[in-house]
Amino acid sequence: MAQKGILVTGGAGYIGSHTARQLGENGERLVTLDNLCTGFRQAVLHGELIVGNTGDQALVSRILKEHDIDTVMHFAAHTIVPESVENPLKYYANNTCNTRNLLACCAEAGVKHFVFYPLLLFM
Ligand SMILES: NC(=O)c1ccc[n+]([C@@H]2O[C@H](COP(=O)([O-])OP(=O)(O)OC[C@H]3O[C@@H](n4cnc5c(N)ncnc54)[C@H](O)[C@@H]3O)[C@@H](O)[C@H]2O)c1
Repeated sequence: MAQKGILVTGGAGYIGSHTARQLGENGERLVTLDNLCTGFRQAVLHGELIVGNTGDQALVSRILKEHDIDTVMHFAAHTIVPESVENPLKYYANNTCNTRNLLACCAEAGVKHFVFYPLLLFM
């Protein structure tokens, strides 16, 4: 049976890119989804980088299906604590609403494993 894929959201960012590098070096088949709002294209060393948003339901659903994803590791987020206090709705929209969208897509696609690294969920 073909190897199932792992989707790493925020894989062009700090934590996500290190995680993806470890997974890639261990032979896992990876896809990174990152909108590059704070991430870096050159940090993605393994697999394909898809530049897009976790809030884009059509895109996420297509990735899960076309890349035969059974595991999602979710690191896409805004992460600056003072900014989250100054502009909580920006954080609510990205870290809460977009995560909910991602989870709904995963449930619909039958993704088996979801690794969730704690996000700033200020509201
Ligand atoms: N850095 C730490 O020490 C630390 C500690 C504890 C928890 N965390 C958590 O780990 C996660 C990642 O943190 P980080 O330090 O790597 O931040 P980071 O800003 O370096 O990485 C976040 C990545 O997500 C991308 N991104 C943001 N919103 C997106 C969206 N809607 N769609 C697609 N891509 C999107 C950004 O472009 C970036 O590449 C966050 O949830 C953070 O709260 C980090």
